[in-house]
Amino acid sequence: MRDLIIDSIDKVFFTPPDREVTALENVSLRVAGGEFVSLIGSTGCGKTTLLRIIAGLESPSSGRILLDGYQAGDMNGACTLVFQQYSLFPWLNVWRNVVFPLEMKGIPKAERTALAKEYIELVGLSGFESAKPYELSGGMQQRVAIARALAYDPEILLMDEPFGALDERTRHRLQGILLKIWQKKRKTIIFVTHNIDEAIYLADRIIVMSTEPGRVAEELRITLPRPRNRLAEEFTEIHLKIRNILESS
Ligand SMILES: Nc1ncnc2c1ncn2[C@@H]1O[C@H](COP(=O)(O)OP(=O)(O)OP(=O)(O)O)[C@@H](O)[C@H]1O
Ligand SMILES: [Mg+2]
Repeated sequence: MRDLIIDSIDKVFFTPPDREVTALENVSLRVAGGEFVSLIGSTGCGKTTLLRIIAGLESPSSGRILLDGYQAGDMNGACTLVFQQYSLFPWLNVWRNVVFPLEMKGIPKAERTALAKEYIELVGLSGFESAKPYELSGGMQQRVAIARALAYDPEILLMDEPFGALDERTRHRLQGILLKIWQKKRKTIIFVTHNIDEAIYLADRIIVMSTEPGRVAEELRITLPRPRNRLAEEFTEIHLKIRNILESS
């Protein structure tokens, strides 16, 4: 698996007539192939902007995104982005939502059928294949979005507060499902969250960002064995540490 290199990224937004916002300043990061990295930081610190730049949806003002040393152009198709808001096609049922991007990718029918079946099962939605998004709860819709993103088989999965709108119990359940799939399939994951507990529960490494301008304030490697115990003393110590960094950055 290739490493993702985020090399000295700056992003300045200009809004007419003369407003200028430095969303990101000199952000550099190397994410190892198969690593689970969480980005945490206050609102407006540039997390979504960074994901959009990695995905190629936004260009940086300066700096480069590389995969193991190749130019950004080679990132084509390497990333899939899962948004906070449910982003399913509302007129397609669960099965078609998962299969449609695979068709677009040109995957033969037998293979895409097998992939869709596998991932719908992995997220625990077997039996709901013919349901439309409006018939599903928010948590179920987000599980479809995860199945769809993973079945597409991206090298890197970018997730922007995917569980932000869910209640705590559903959130914990989906964290468990995501970890199980990640352990089985070993994707590189960059997961944005506002929730310190979620970042510690999931990630190999947590990048804490400071705001105005968005910068990397600190990196913490989380070595607690999985599944992690949210009540363990080490867990709560890390929680406090991150809270302090966020409050002072
Ligand atoms: N298209 C845009 N045009 C102008 N300014 C923008 C644009 N997109 C983002 N910004 C600004 O860039 C900064 C970072 O925004 P971004 O959405 O990346 O923050 P964030 O960390 O994802 O915040 P949140 O946690 O609230 O989602 C903000 O000040 C925002 O106003
Ligand atoms: Mg955001």
